[in-house]
Amino acid sequence: MYNSKDDLQRVLITEEQIQDRVKQIAQQINKDYQKENNPCFVGILKGAFIFLADLTRHLTIKHSVDFLSISSYGKSGAVSDTVRLIMDLRDPIEGRNVVIVEDILDSGKTLEYLYKILEQRKPASLKTCVLVKKTRDSVSFPIDYLGFEIPDVWVVGYGLDYAESYRTLPYIAELKEEIYRPG
Ligand code: IMP
Ligand code: MG
Repeated sequence: MYNSKDDLQRVLITEEQIQDRVKQIAQQINKDYQKENNPCFVGILKGAFIFLADLTRHLTIKHSVDFLSISSYGKSGAVSDTVRLIMDLRDPIEGRNVVIVEDILDSGKTLEYLYKILEQRKPASLKTCVLVKKTRDSVSFPIDYLGFEIPDVWVVGYGLDYAESYRTLPYIAELKEEIYRPG
Protein backbone atom coordinates (compact mmCIF):
# COMPACT_ATOMS: atom_id res chain seq x y z
CA MET A 1 0.00 0.00 0.00
CA TYR A 2 1.32 3.38 -0.86
CA ASN A 3 -0.20 6.81 -1.51
CA SER A 4 1.77 9.00 -3.87
CA LYS A 5 0.15 12.40 -4.33
CA ASP A 6 2.12 12.81 -7.57
CA ASP A 7 -0.14 10.18 -9.16
CA LEU A 8 -3.31 12.18 -8.53
CA GLN A 9 -4.94 14.42 -11.10
CA ARG A 10 -7.26 16.27 -8.73
CA VAL A 11 -9.36 15.79 -5.62
CA LEU A 12 -12.98 15.16 -6.60
CA ILE A 13 -14.56 14.83 -3.16
CA THR A 14 -12.90 16.33 -0.11
CA GLU A 15 -12.59 14.66 3.27
CA GLU A 16 -15.09 17.11 4.72
CA GLN A 17 -17.62 16.48 1.96
CA ILE A 18 -17.33 12.74 2.48
CA GLN A 19 -17.69 12.96 6.25
CA ASP A 20 -20.75 15.25 5.99
CA ARG A 21 -22.45 13.02 3.44
CA VAL A 22 -21.72 9.79 5.31
CA LYS A 23 -23.25 11.31 8.42
CA GLN A 24 -26.35 12.39 6.45
CA ILE A 25 -26.78 8.91 4.99
CA ALA A 26 -26.45 7.36 8.46
CA GLN A 27 -29.09 9.73 9.80
CA GLN A 28 -31.43 8.76 6.98
CA ILE A 29 -30.81 5.07 7.71
CA ASN A 30 -31.44 5.66 11.42
CA LYS A 31 -34.84 7.07 10.48
CA ASP A 32 -35.73 4.45 7.87
CA TYR A 33 -34.76 1.49 10.06
CA GLN A 34 -36.17 2.78 13.35
CA LYS A 35 -38.90 0.16 13.34
CA GLU A 36 -36.97 -2.59 11.59
CA ASN A 37 -35.43 -5.28 13.65
CA ASN A 38 -31.63 -5.31 13.81
CA PRO A 39 -30.61 -4.70 10.18
CA CYS A 40 -27.40 -6.23 8.87
CA PHE A 41 -24.93 -4.08 6.94
CA VAL A 42 -22.95 -6.12 4.47
CA GLY A 43 -19.66 -4.50 3.50
CA ILE A 44 -18.13 -5.55 0.22
CA LEU A 45 -14.41 -6.13 0.67
CA LYS A 46 -12.09 -4.68 0.21
CA GLY A 47 -13.22 -1.31 -1.12
CA ALA A 48 -16.07 -0.64 1.31
CA PHE A 49 -14.24 -1.21 4.59
CA ILE A 50 -13.59 2.45 5.36
CA PHE A 51 -17.04 3.63 4.26
CA LEU A 52 -18.72 0.90 6.31
CA ALA A 53 -16.61 1.75 9.36
CA ASP A 54 -17.52 5.44 9.21
CA LEU A 55 -21.16 4.85 8.32
CA THR A 56 -21.90 2.37 11.07
CA ARG A 57 -20.25 4.56 13.71
CA HIS A 58 -22.98 7.13 13.04
CA LEU A 59 -25.77 4.59 13.45
CA THR A 60 -27.83 4.81 16.60
CA ILE A 61 -30.07 1.84 15.76
CA LYS A 62 -29.24 -1.70 16.79
CA HIS A 63 -27.52 -3.38 13.85
CA SER A 64 -24.87 -5.87 12.89
CA VAL A 65 -22.15 -5.91 10.27
CA ASP A 66 -20.94 -8.72 8.08
CA PHE A 67 -18.62 -8.90 5.11
CA LEU A 68 -18.23 -10.63 1.86
CA SER A 69 -15.42 -10.47 -0.56
CA ILE A 70 -15.64 -10.53 -4.28
CA SER A 71 -13.21 -10.09 -7.08
CA SER A 72 -14.07 -8.17 -10.20
CA TYR A 73 -10.53 -7.25 -11.07
CA GLY A 74 -8.31 -8.12 -13.98
CA LYS A 75 -4.57 -8.52 -13.60
CA SER A 76 -3.49 -4.94 -13.28
CA GLY A 77 -6.18 -3.40 -11.14
CA ALA A 78 -8.78 -2.34 -13.66
CA VAL A 79 -12.29 -3.74 -13.82
CA SER A 80 -12.91 -6.98 -15.66
CA ASP A 81 -16.28 -8.48 -16.40
CA THR A 82 -16.31 -11.60 -14.28
CA VAL A 83 -17.38 -11.32 -10.67
CA ARG A 84 -16.36 -14.08 -8.27
CA LEU A 85 -17.29 -14.67 -4.66
CA ILE A 86 -14.05 -15.02 -2.69
CA MET A 87 -15.39 -15.04 0.87
CA ASP A 88 -18.99 -15.48 1.95
CA LEU A 89 -20.98 -13.95 4.81
CA ARG A 90 -20.41 -15.36 8.26
CA ASP A 91 -24.11 -15.55 9.16
CA PRO A 92 -27.37 -16.45 7.39
CA ILE A 93 -29.53 -13.51 6.30
CA GLU A 94 -32.85 -15.25 5.86
CA GLY A 95 -35.55 -13.04 7.37
CA ARG A 96 -33.07 -10.21 8.09
CA ASN A 97 -33.20 -6.65 6.84
CA VAL A 98 -30.03 -6.36 4.80
CA VAL A 99 -28.19 -3.37 3.38
CA ILE A 100 -25.39 -3.97 0.90
CA VAL A 101 -22.66 -1.37 1.44
CA GLU A 102 -20.43 -0.84 -1.58
CA ASP A 103 -17.73 1.66 -2.45
CA ILE A 104 -18.45 2.40 -6.08
CA LEU A 105 -20.81 1.59 -8.90
CA ASP A 106 -19.21 1.55 -12.32
CA SER A 107 -20.82 -0.82 -14.82
CA GLY A 108 -23.19 -2.09 -12.12
CA LYS A 109 -22.22 -5.73 -12.71
CA THR A 110 -20.84 -6.26 -9.23
CA LEU A 111 -23.90 -4.95 -7.44
CA GLU A 112 -26.22 -6.80 -9.78
CA TYR A 113 -24.40 -10.05 -9.03
CA LEU A 114 -24.39 -9.45 -5.28
CA TYR A 115 -28.03 -8.45 -5.22
CA LYS A 116 -28.96 -11.63 -7.01
CA ILE A 117 -27.06 -14.00 -4.72
CA LEU A 118 -28.24 -12.29 -1.54
CA GLU A 119 -31.84 -12.10 -2.72
CA GLN A 120 -31.86 -15.88 -3.15
CA ARG A 121 -31.26 -16.21 0.60
CA LYS A 122 -34.66 -14.65 1.30
CA PRO A 123 -33.82 -11.62 3.43
CA ALA A 124 -36.85 -9.71 4.78
CA SER A 125 -35.60 -6.72 2.79
CA LEU A 126 -32.57 -5.93 0.68
CA LYS A 127 -31.30 -2.41 0.03
CA THR A 128 -28.18 -0.91 -1.44
CA CYS A 129 -25.92 1.84 -0.12
CA VAL A 130 -23.19 3.07 -2.44
CA LEU A 131 -20.73 5.88 -1.81
CA VAL A 132 -20.00 6.90 -5.40
CA LYS A 133 -21.58 6.21 -8.73
CA LYS A 134 -19.92 6.93 -12.03
CA THR A 135 -22.10 8.80 -14.45
CA ARG A 136 -22.32 6.57 -17.48
CA ASP A 137 -25.27 6.11 -19.79
CA SER A 138 -25.01 2.33 -19.71
CA VAL A 139 -25.32 2.12 -15.94
CA SER A 140 -28.53 1.66 -14.12
CA PHE A 141 -28.84 -0.29 -10.94
CA PRO A 142 -31.26 0.93 -8.28
CA ILE A 143 -29.40 2.45 -5.34
CA ASP A 144 -31.32 3.23 -2.16
CA TYR A 145 -28.63 5.36 -0.52
CA LEU A 146 -26.13 7.15 -2.74
CA GLY A 147 -23.29 9.40 -1.61
CA PHE A 148 -22.05 11.12 -4.76
CA GLU A 149 -22.09 11.01 -8.53
CA ILE A 150 -18.76 11.43 -10.25
CA PRO A 151 -17.49 11.55 -13.84
CA ASP A 152 -16.31 8.36 -15.54
CA VAL A 153 -12.67 8.45 -14.46
CA TRP A 154 -10.60 6.12 -12.25
CA VAL A 155 -10.82 7.29 -8.66
CA VAL A 156 -8.89 6.29 -5.56
CA GLY A 157 -8.98 6.99 -1.84
CA TYR A 158 -11.40 6.37 1.02
CA GLY A 159 -11.15 2.60 0.44
CA LEU A 160 -10.90 2.76 -3.34
CA ASP A 161 -7.68 1.47 -4.82
CA TYR A 162 -5.70 1.09 -7.95
CA ALA A 163 -3.65 -2.14 -7.79
CA GLU A 164 -4.05 -2.08 -3.97
CA SER A 165 -2.61 1.41 -3.47
CA TYR A 166 -4.15 4.73 -2.36
CA ARG A 167 -6.92 3.15 -0.24
CA THR A 168 -6.07 5.14 2.88
CA LEU A 169 -6.29 8.62 1.37
CA PRO A 170 -9.00 10.49 3.33
CA TYR A 171 -10.51 12.01 0.16
CA ILE A 172 -11.52 10.68 -3.25
CA ALA A 173 -9.26 11.74 -6.09
CA GLU A 174 -8.99 11.16 -9.80
CA LEU A 175 -5.93 9.14 -10.69
CA LYS A 176 -3.73 10.45 -13.50
CA GLU A 177 -4.60 8.68 -16.71
CA GLU A 178 -0.95 7.76 -17.33
CA ILE A 179 -1.10 5.60 -14.18
CA TYR A 180 -4.15 3.53 -15.08
CA ARG A 181 -3.68 3.63 -18.84
CA PRO A 182 0.07 3.37 -19.22
CA GLY A 183 1.54 3.69 -22.70
P1 IMP B 1 -18.77 -2.57 -11.59
O1 IMP B 1 -19.04 -4.01 -11.39
O2 IMP B 1 -18.32 -2.26 -12.99
O3 IMP B 1 -19.89 -1.67 -11.12
O4 IMP B 1 -17.48 -2.24 -10.78
C1 IMP B 1 -17.51 -2.07 -9.46
C2 IMP B 1 -16.21 -2.50 -8.84
O5 IMP B 1 -15.06 -2.14 -9.63
C3 IMP B 1 -16.09 -1.76 -7.55
O6 IMP B 1 -16.53 -2.57 -6.50
C4 IMP B 1 -14.63 -1.43 -7.47
O7 IMP B 1 -13.98 -2.45 -6.76
C5 IMP B 1 -14.13 -1.43 -8.87
N1 IMP B 1 -14.02 -0.06 -9.43
C6 IMP B 1 -14.72 0.45 -10.46
N2 IMP B 1 -14.35 1.71 -10.73
C7 IMP B 1 -13.39 2.00 -9.84
C8 IMP B 1 -12.59 3.20 -9.61
O8 IMP B 1 -12.71 4.25 -10.26
N3 IMP B 1 -11.68 3.12 -8.60
C9 IMP B 1 -11.52 2.01 -7.84
N4 IMP B 1 -12.24 0.89 -8.01
C10 IMP B 1 -13.17 0.88 -9.00
MG1 MG C 1 -15.25 -3.10 -4.79
